Amino acid sequence: MKILGIESSCDETAAAVVEDGRKVLSNIIATSLEEHKLYGGVVPEIASRRHAESISGVVKEALEQADCTMADIDAIAVTYAPGLIGALLVGVNFAKGLALATDTPLVPVHHIRGHIASNYISSDIEPPFLCLIVSGGHSHIVAVNSYTDFEIIGKTRDDAAGEALDKAGRTMGLEYPGGVSIDKLSPQGNENAYKFPKPKVSDSPYDFSFSGLKTAVINTVHHAQQKGEDIDIADLAASFQKSVVDCLITNLEKVAVEKSFNKIVIAGGVSANSKLRAEAQALCKKHKWSLYLPELRYCGDNAAMIASQGYYEFVQGERADESLNAYATMPIDKNYKTI
Ligand code: KG4
Ligand code: ZN
Repeated sequence: MKILGIESSCDETAAAVVEDGRKVLSNIIATSLEEHKLYGGVVPEIASRRHAESISGVVKEALEQADCTMADIDAIAVTYAPGLIGALLVGVNFAKGLALATDTPLVPVHHIRGHIASNYISSDIEPPFLCLIVSGGHSHIVAVNSYTDFEIIGKTRDDAAGEALDKAGRTMGLEYPGGVSIDKLSPQGNENAYKFPKPKVSDSPYDFSFSGLKTAVINTVHHAQQKGEDIDIADLAASFQKSVVDCLITNLEKVAVEKSFNKIVIAGGVSANSKLRAEAQALCKKHKWSLYLPELRYCGDNAAMIASQGYYEFVQGERADESLNAYATMPIDKNYKTI
């Protein structure tokens, strides 16, 4: 069964064809990242306009590379939530038009479920497992009971891990996205040079909080500037990255031990982070747990992961009609029919 995936939730316009949820036949991505770098963050209006310009060519290329026409496609899977609303609407409306014109079933896919599925196209992992999802907009620990059944165990109370890395990176004067810059710079720094407070969420042992950490790093930079002191940015980047990864790994370990998981999966843009990958490996080695990480090319936003998740939603009978809308927020354990 061949699924055409379409993704446009942020600054990547992507399309892919995936067979039976696992075999990637094509994976095309056009990004407007370079334009957003000028502003230090994604400008929604620019992202939407670039999606509108690129989407048709990107979908065409994905079909061509997979050696397919629409006649070979069993369903169109499209990201409908969560994300930038104007960006999502471009993908959703394109998918609706294509589905209608070619009489192809339409399957709505939750973006974060898609990130989890980046592991299905990277390895032979099957649910159930415990997943740490860390992206620009989300930090969650989720029990993936089946391909379509998710239970949120822990989540961030404020900033997502990627968001905190990006904002801290901006304060340090690093190029957007800060998470990528901090990862690149950290090996040149001493990760023990700066000590940051370890945030605690008192009423939930599994939740995260990153805004205090982010403020601490921003204050460190501002105080040094006020006093005219030099700061070693590589030391600061490495120390901040260590603090963020410590928080993620501490809670992941707590949940896995207390809820007896021995299959651990990481997903989302921040899963590309070398420190997080190394610490997750060390954690799983210590406990003799199996660890699954997405291939680096599938960590960031792409449509192959959407087509993969779309396949599992499709075989479960999930369908959308022409009334499908886009949603800026949507919990991973819900869908537009249940909110
Ligand atoms: O999943 P994603 O591509 O988009 C969202 O769904 O949000 O995640 C983007 C986030 C950004 O915050 C970016 O800084 C972060 O992923 N990121 C990284 C790395 N690569 C991307 N953070 C740390 N280290 C990386 N290597
Ligand atoms: Zn994403």
